[in-house]
Amino acid sequence: MKTVTVFRGDGIGPEICDAVLEILKSAKAKVTFECFEVGAMEYERNGKLMPDEAYASFERNKVLLKAPITTPIGKGFRSLNVTLRNKYDLYANIRPAKSNPAIVTPFPNVDLVTFRENTEDLYVGVEKVIDEDTVHATKIITRKASERIIRDAFAYALSNHRHKVTCVHKANILKQSDGMFLAIFYDIAKEYPSIMADDKIVDNVCMQLVMHPQAFDVLVMPNLYGDIVSDLTSGLIGGLGLLPSCNIGKTYAMFEAVHGSAPDIVGKHIANPTALLLSACMMLDYLKEEETASRIRTAVDEVLKEAVSLTPDLHGTATTQQYCDAIIEHLL
Ligand code: NAI
Ligand code: MG
Repeated sequence: MKTVTVFRGDGIGPEICDAVLEILKSAKAKVTFECFEVGAMEYERNGKLMPDEAYASFERNKVLLKAPITTPIGKGFRSLNVTLRNKYDLYANIRPAKSNPAIVTPFPNVDLVTFRENTEDLYVGVEKVIDEDTVHATKIITRKASERIIRDAFAYALSNHRHKVTCVHKANILKQSDGMFLAIFYDIAKEYPSIMADDKIVDNVCMQLVMHPQAFDVLVMPNLYGDIVSDLTSGLIGGLGLLPSCNIGKTYAMFEAVHGSAPDIVGKHIANPTALLLSACMMLDYLKEEETASRIRTAVDEVLKEAVSLTPDLHGTATTQQYCDAIIEHLL
């Protein structure tokens, strides 16, 4: 039995987290959970965004299921998300966006995976106030970080029967930084002759993703473009409530929904737990519990297809609990 650390998060975090844990227990997943309150509420209580025991638990278990956390703006905080990714070197942020036939969008048959570099680029958070009218922000791109994310994208393509990896960049303007990322991409591509490799400028990618998203397969890119483009890909498949993700390093792994703490719907009991649930399925795959993950994914597909117990973001009227109960019914 594997033990996993769980952060219940802020806003809708605890609502969707409790639903997901209930489903994992009903599916008899061979995992136990150590749950922690982290984030803004914990800060109000104890003056820390994250208690020391929560760090210790993650360091022990090495696997974290994390509900969304609110990033307080303008209080001098570094985002806890960015902190976790850096402290535990969770360098690969992987976000699969796959259409579900039951969710009608203008974009059928999307099946693409974004590999976002997770530790550098503008997210190092170095901003220098030059004078009252000028601020410089630092973008960092290193060979080491670029190589490992690009290599992971190709290795993933190879082992998941994907046929193409696209490098997304702005090397026409950022000739040195994105230029190096792009050059490394084509160097590594030579090691994978069976996988097609191409590149596109990020603004063009945004246009093409909404014109013909089916043309994309695996995409790899620096941190900022990955943040933006992967939200766009969630829109292609029906919204943020559906897009799972994982943040993986050599030692640690963290699984979370792409969306945030959704303060606009907190406490209304209508949050869609699917993104966090599918992230938990990625975690089960990572823990070699593929059979349980697959049963949960099938139950999700069936509930979405029946369209009786959908949450309001999917144009239904169900509460989080009713949706969760419907999934559990399909598992039994
Ligand atoms: P958000 O993702 O929380 O919400 C954007 C919109 O999508 C809202 O209208 C919200 O109601 C809707 N939405 C999101 N998840 C949903 C779900 N599961 N079910 C139904 N509707 C859903 O983005 P926003 O408002 O920009 O950020 C709110 C807070 O979350 C901020 O403090 C931000 O820093 C934080 N955040 C945290 C993340 C994390 O912990 N990984 C990721 C993104 C944002
Ligand atoms: Mg984002």
